[in-house]
Amino acid sequence: MYMNAIDDFVTKLPKAELHVHIEGTLEPELMFAIAERNGIALPYASVEALRAAYSFRRLQDFLDIYYRGMGVLLHEQDFYDLTWAYLEKARSQNVLHAEIFFDPQGHTVRGVAFETALDGIWRALRDGADRLGISAKLILCFLRHLDADDAMRTLDQALAYKDRIVAVGLDSSELGHPPEKFKAVFDRARAEGFLTVAHAGEEGPPAYVWQALDELGVARIDHGNRALEDDALVRRLAADKTPLTVCPLSNLRLCVVDDMAAHPLAEMIERGLFVTVNSDDPSYFGGYMNENYRAVADALDLSRDTLAEVARNGFEAAFLTDAEKAALTAKLDAYLASA
Ligand code: ADE
Ligand code: ZN
Repeated sequence: MYMNAIDDFVTKLPKAELHVHIEGTLEPELMFAIAERNGIALPYASVEALRAAYSFRRLQDFLDIYYRGMGVLLHEQDFYDLTWAYLEKARSQNVLHAEIFFDPQGHTVRGVAFETALDGIWRALRDGADRLGISAKLILCFLRHLDADDAMRTLDQALAYKDRIVAVGLDSSELGHPPEKFKAVFDRARAEGFLTVAHAGEEGPPAYVWQALDELGVARIDHGNRALEDDALVRRLAADKTPLTVCPLSNLRLCVVDDMAAHPLAEMIERGLFVTVNSDDPSYFGGYMNENYRAVADALDLSRDTLAEVARNGFEAAFLTDAEKAALTAKLDAYLASA
């Protein structure tokens, strides 16, 4: 199919996003606007200078800038504006459902209350459902570079908000911070009724993916690229139909892959893995959902049917009831019948 035809197909394709960090959707323009109203001086002269700093050789290069960027967020309204901007963008790209990570420790370490972040994000999600018709779930991520006690205290704070938080996850600097470090925290989270996910195999070895499955009991693996190095792990993931939330432009910008043509998504599909496509930190990595779908469609020459299956996987892997999944999948099917 001609590229512009695939572009059009992807643009209108109903999609679910299962891996997006709300703090990673903070566009430079909004960062400057919030910094100004909060009386915070940014170490960049302009939006352009800030964007020019988005050149990363590895995950940690990005994280250093990401944590600094979220430092402008102080008030409930800041978190609302951040989340609302993401939801409008997602809706404009035919994202029908989003499962959104937030990093409360990135805020509480700066003296911003857990509730300030949660209340602002939550109010925007409610407005997103009412005014945009976009459904959303919230996933609390623990920062793995901090210790397990800090994560446990954060879990304590989340217990009062089981009605708002569907799952807990694990993100930040992967190497040197294996999932097993958080086994007790995840055991408790599951006992309290939270679902669990974890970033694993982005930079870390296959052993970290095994640990996420066996020690943390995760329902999905975020990234999972390096699972391909271990045949037994691939067989396990395929047999269990464990969803991988793959993030192509993130992988390119963080040098997890050298070239989009070398992205492992096609190999993952070939080897029977249950993959989804997601944006991770779209403001930092050069694209939201449509740009991620287009990037892999183009570089890996994916067919319309393959792209439709990836979109279907997104709804299937969502933390929704069977009835909710069926309602969203029906919209996908209606689109495919008309496209
Ligand atoms: N936090 C935000 N984005 C992340 C990523 N891609 N990997 C680990 N931690 C993150
Ligand atoms: Zn991520």
